[in-house]
Amino acid sequence: MIVSTKKLFAHAYGQYALGAYNINNAEQLMGLFRGNIESQAPFIIQISKGARKYTDKRLLEAMIRASEQIFPEAIFAVHIDHGDEETCLDAIRSGFYSSVMIDASDKDFAENMAITKRIVAAAHAKDVAVEAELGQLGGVEEHISVAEDRAHLTDPKQAEEFISQSGCDSLACAIGTSHGAYKFSGSQSIHFDILEEIQKLVPGFPLVMHGSSSVPAEEVERINAAGGKLKGAKGVDETQFKNAANLGVTKVNIDTDGRLVWTRVHREFFRDQPEVFDLRKPGEIFMNEYAKYIFHKNQMLGSAGQLEAVRQSLQFRK
Ligand code: G3H
Ligand code: 13P
Ligand code: ZN
Repeated sequence: MIVSTKKLFAHAYGQYALGAYNINNAEQLMGLFRGNIESQAPFIIQISKGARKYTDKRLLEAMIRASEQIFPEAIFAVHIDHGDEETCLDAIRSGFYSSVMIDASDKDFAENMAITKRIVAAAHAKDVAVEAELGQLGGVEEHISVAEDRAHLTDPKQAEEFISQSGCDSLACAIGTSHGAYKFSGSQSIHFDILEEIQKLVPGFPLVMHGSSSVPAEEVERINAAGGKLKGAKGVDETQFKNAANLGVTKVNIDTDGRLVWTRVHREFFRDQPEVFDLRKPGEIFMNEYAKYIFHKNQMLGSAGQLEAVRQSLQFRK
C-alpha cells in the first residue's frame, strides 16, 4: 500500500528511521520488497532524476504499482530523490508520488527558500509532502579545518528559519556525510551536535540523513578480490543510525550500498562462471542478496518489526 510520507514520519519520529532506498530496475524492486516484508518494515522507495531517465519513469512507476499488488502486505511511500523544480512539478502533477525532494541546496539561502516555497505551494495543493535541503553535503576530510568543515554544514538557526518560512515537511541536513562510496578520510564524524541543536529548536520536525550508505568493508574486499578497484571506500557506521533517529532523523537515504551488492554479485558470478550468459542467473542471486541486505539494514534503522504498528497507526492518523 502506497501511503503518505508524513504519516510514516509521524509514526517513526524519535523512535526509528525509515530506510529510503533508491531503485532503478526490476531486480532492485523485487529484492527491496522481499527484504522489507521479511523484516516487517515500512519503507520509502526513492527515484532520482537519473533513475527516471535510465529506462523510462513510466516503467518504474508501473513496476512499483505491480509490486504493490504482488506484495499487498507492504506499506511504503514513493519519493522523488534530489529533484529539481521541473522534476518535482512533473511528479506532483502525476499524482503518483507521496513526496518530493526539492534540492536547491547549491543556491544561496534566499533562492533556496524561494524555490522551495514554490514547490511547497504546488505540492501541498495535491497533498504531496516536500523534503528540502539546507547546507552542503560533503565528507569530512582530514586536511579541512574545523571552521572550513562547519561552513558547509547545516546551521541550526538557519534551519529553524528555513523550516518555519518555507513550509517544507522535512529537511535534509548536512551533518558530515556525503554521497557515494568514499565518505570519510581519517576518523569518522557525524555531527550529532547539529541534530541535537535542530531538534531543540524544532522539536518533532522530521530530519533526513543523506549519504548514509555504510559501504561494508567485506563488500568492498569481495569486489576488489573479484577484479574491482574500490580503494579506500568508507561509509557511515550503521550502529549510529539509532542515535540519529532519537535526534529526529526519520529518513535515512541509501543508494550506494545497493550498487555495491549488485557489483559484488555480478563480479563474483562472472569470475566464477565465465561460461554462463543467462542474465537471470546473477539476477536471482542479486535479488536474494539485496533482500538480505535490506533485512539487515532495517534492523540497524529500527524499522524492522514496525509494519503492524504502522498499519494500526494509519487507521487513526488523518
Ligand atoms: O543522491 C543521489 C543518489 O545516490 C542517486 O544517484 O542520481 O546516480 O541516480 P543517481
Ligand atoms: P549514498 O550514496 O550514501 O547511498 O546516499 C544516497 C543518497 O543520499 C540518496 O539521496
Ligand atoms: Zn542524497
